[in-house]
Amino acid sequence: MELIGPFSQILPLAGLPLKGALSDEQLTIIENGGIVTDGGRIVTVGNFKKLQHQYPECDVTHITVPAVLMPGFIDCHTHICFDGSRSRDYAMRIAGKSYLEIARAGGGIWDSVTKTRMADLETLVMNTAARANRHLHEGVTTIEVKSGYGLNLDGELNMLRAIQAASSHTKATLVSTCLAAHMRPKDFEGTETEYLDWILTSLLPVLQEEQLAKRVDIFIEETAFTPAPAKHFLQQAADMGFAATVHADQFSTGGAAVAVAAGALSADHLEASDDGAIGLLAAADIVAVVLPGASLGLGMHYAPARRLLNAGAAVAIASDWNPGSAPMGDLLMQAAVLSAAEKLSAAEVFAGLTSRAAKALDIKDAGQLAAGFVADMQAYPCADYRDILYYQGKLKPVKVWKEGDTVVK
Ligand code: NIG
Ligand code: FE
Repeated sequence: MELIGPFSQILPLAGLPLKGALSDEQLTIIENGGIVTDGGRIVTVGNFKKLQHQYPECDVTHITVPAVLMPGFIDCHTHICFDGSRSRDYAMRIAGKSYLEIARAGGGIWDSVTKTRMADLETLVMNTAARANRHLHEGVTTIEVKSGYGLNLDGELNMLRAIQAASSHTKATLVSTCLAAHMRPKDFEGTETEYLDWILTSLLPVLQEEQLAKRVDIFIEETAFTPAPAKHFLQQAADMGFAATVHADQFSTGGAAVAVAAGALSADHLEASDDGAIGLLAAADIVAVVLPGASLGLGMHYAPARRLLNAGAAVAIASDWNPGSAPMGDLLMQAAVLSAAEKLSAAEVFAGLTSRAAKALDIKDAGQLAAGFVADMQAYPCADYRDILYYQGKLKPVKVWKEGDTVVK
């Protein structure tokens, strides 16, 4: 058993409501706090001195500088398994070129598909692990990673095998999702429905056999997949035992309604969600995942996080880290910038990066500092938790623990 402390403040972020608006008054803040861990799990959190008396047998790790402890962040939406840069797309975009002009010049998702298909397994493993480790150093202890730049049997398997293998090169927990339904690949001879059927009949059974993914995602958009076939796809995948998440309402509406109807764990993006979609998301048992990094990368407005929370939705914040629309990959900076723009409280931001993001991945034992939860934690070099968003992402954790082990000292 280990007792770690004293921390200037501990924010357990435990037991907060999973849905709706939150104020900072709802936060429990333990001043001069300590945390007891055992075998990678949290035993208890409380006043450091009291815990020293209560647990005299503990090894004590002394924290000698001001520090604020909170759960490790959970990034519930990334595409960090890819090869190649899309800086050419970005240069065209900031120079004012349209989506179509960039696609015509050979950019867009298909460019990353071409580059990622050419990469061997080892390259994808190392690329994914390097990005996961950068995230881990920035306090992100659990990372969802999507396929979706393969879009054929070999390409998708190579990506999902790479994500699985990358787990041996990072202490962060990686959660794989099959996004073969990212777009209909240019070299697939058949309709949208035929491509989705190919995924259901030829790809998903292999993923089950090799235990490569238990989740599917689909991009519902005019340029990708339309609502009716997408709904059928999600229902069939659910019948096979796959959990679902949806790229929904990024540029046009329709996706969020499908996600709700299909019983998806989350509907992600939502920049275009209208009052109708917001109402559906708020009424359902689904997490609304907002992706400020994609708004920053595309130079477009943010998802209506404030309105979603006010309506009663569970809002999580994720990075969408990908080579096209969200190359930055700095989750805390993106969440801080979003909070200033959308007027989110610190409680809403931190819940969106921890317990609410855990719900999006259906993880029941991470994202809170509470007894029995996994000891995934991070400490910031400040005495007041409000400094963390105040510095808008420039204040980084000085210590990160994964399952009780120090991974960043
Ligand atoms: O989440 N919206 C679709 N897919 C990604 C972008 C992927 C890409 O451009 O490579 C996203 O933003
Ligand atoms: Fe995405």
